[in-house]
Amino acid sequence: MSYDTELEYDKTEKMDSKLWKRLFRYAVRKPGLFWKVVIFMLITSLIDVIYPVLTGNAITNFVRPDGTPTTDGIWLFFGVYAALVLLQGFCTFRFISRTGRLETFISYTIRQEAYLKLQTLSFSFYDKTSVGYLMARMVSDVSRLSEMIAWSITDFLWAFFYIFASTVTMLYFNWKLTLIVLAVIPPLAIVSLYLQRKILRYQRVSRKHNSRITSAFNEGIMGAMTTKTLVREEENAKEFETITTDMRKASVKASVLSASFFPLVVSLGAVGTTMALIFGGAGVGANLVHKSTFLGEIDAGKLVMFITYAASLFDPIQQLAGIFADMQSAQASAERVLGLLDTESEVRDTPEAEEKYGTSMDPKRENWEPINGDIVFDHVDFCYKESEPLLRDFNLHIHAGETVALVGETGAGKSTIVNLLCRFYEPKNGRILVDGKDYRERSQLWLQSSLGYVLQSPHLFSGTIRDNIRFGRPDADEESVKRAAALVHADEFIERQPKGYDTEVGEGGVRLSTGQKQLISFARVILADPQIFVLDEATSSIDTETEQLIQNAITEVLRHRTSVVVAHRLSTIRNADRILVIRDGAIVEEGNHETLLEKGGYYHDLYMHQYQEDAMQEVLK
Ligand SMILES: Nc1ncnc2c1ncn2[C@@H]1O[C@H](COP(=O)(O)OP(=O)(O)O)[C@@H](O)[C@H]1O
Ligand SMILES: [Mg+2]
Repeated sequence: MSYDTELEYDKTEKMDSKLWKRLFRYAVRKPGLFWKVVIFMLITSLIDVIYPVLTGNAITNFVRPDGTPTTDGIWLFFGVYAALVLLQGFCTFRFISRTGRLETFISYTIRQEAYLKLQTLSFSFYDKTSVGYLMARMVSDVSRLSEMIAWSITDFLWAFFYIFASTVTMLYFNWKLTLIVLAVIPPLAIVSLYLQRKILRYQRVSRKHNSRITSAFNEGIMGAMTTKTLVREEENAKEFETITTDMRKASVKASVLSASFFPLVVSLGAVGTTMALIFGGAGVGANLVHKSTFLGEIDAGKLVMFITYAASLFDPIQQLAGIFADMQSAQASAERVLGLLDTESEVRDTPEAEEKYGTSMDPKRENWEPINGDIVFDHVDFCYKESEPLLRDFNLHIHAGETVALVGETGAGKSTIVNLLCRFYEPKNGRILVDGKDYRERSQLWLQSSLGYVLQSPHLFSGTIRDNIRFGRPDADEESVKRAAALVHADEFIERQPKGYDTEVGEGGVRLSTGQKQLISFARVILADPQIFVLDEATSSIDTETEQLIQNAITEVLRHRTSVVVAHRLSTIRNADRILVIRDGAIVEEGNHETLLEKGGYYHDLYMHQYQEDAMQEVLK
């Protein structure tokens, strides 16, 4: 597996600002929404800054210096106060709903990009990465990130505006007292950051164990049968216990730190308030008896205002620290998601090919040459892993309209040849020519839209049976869908389904048997009517009876089209124009059924062997 979770968590110690810049840019992609969030946030925090000013003013104006109250102008004060409360309520409501929208927008945009990416990645990517893993990545990582991005933006804006505006206000009223109050900010920030980091580290460790638990769980479920047959229950349980204990320890540490974090920050914040009280209080006292202090003029109202600011400053600081902490903890998710978006497909169209034939999103079909189906493997070398070469100097010419069958033992390389032909992989050396031209000079879509394949483990998409048959030709009418299904005798089982063609096949077709999936893929290919057919053990999971029934249909469909058939049952390829016997990635025998039998080589033995087995089966029936 190329995406090792352990490694991911180790990479995340340092903040990667480039990564975050890229992610935060998603929020600005919808400027209208983004600016609304900024403005509502600005107003909300400005009003938060105004409240202490109002309170200070009230004290100064409604309490006379001798301590007696007065109500002159109280209605105006009340009006202003009420208006601000209402305005802030409104803005709060708006920014919450806008931020929610921003979150949805971000997750939608990232998911869409990732989805497009997944579509264009080649098969080799899927060899290395499990689909379950990708889904987990897409769903949980993207929700986590978009939530984090949207809300950190609002949190950041609020904290930033609040600190900025309150500092300006304080400076305006008394700059010396301001400096005294602000002196606690640096230690506060340092302590907040330090503690948040520590908490994170333990949370991360606990999460790492969590993901190991999940995968152990998965394996436990998926491998239950193997476990049982191999009698490994006890060992598995022990392994599981070790992981859960580790996780508990890390979680407890994280919780203890979190619990001590808040009191610590609050106490530090209180130091600021105390300083304001001591110095400011002394100043107010001095002013009352008309003595001058180094603070200059200050009254009880202003002092209350300063104390309020001092007491509330730790809030935005803590929020800012929290954002950094969040970003750090989400960095692994961010790396995974952006890593996926950055994955380059191993099979890629060249810029020249894209220029002429268009991309998969925007194909230029008007430039596509019609396909004949003449295929040449020209000195092809191929391997999945460098250490295990599979095809060496492989040469093969399949003429347009010819039916070529590949036979050979499991692991001989038949599917590999087919994968190369379909351009799921490309040759490491040498070329594959389609209609006389290296297929890399054209687009993948050009080839694949003229190519129909039914594979050993066919893939269906979640949706109905009808959707799946129509997949290559979404415009096909009901009549053609049914005809295609009938041709391969898929109609019988489909009509037996409670909802017929409207039956949901489930994700990947899980609700159907492999044989049924093969029949549906067959119908799909027949409906799409491609020029080149590739059948890789296409009938391997279809029962012998149905197989014989559709044999004629297949022969009929393959006539006059280029087709490559990998057969597990030799009886199905007797009519092939040419049969190639593959062994260790090389062609060892070649000819049609009769000549190969006469030759008395590998094919002959294989055939006789199967023939005898079939005869035995008949006798046993
Ligand atoms: N995606 C893959 N990654 C790595 N090795 C592979 C992959 N697919 C097949 N192989 C290996 O390549 C060899 C040929 O496999 P394949 O072409 O599937 O044989 P066949 O279809 O004739 O049974 C086997 O040894 C197999 O293990
Ligand atoms: Mg195979």
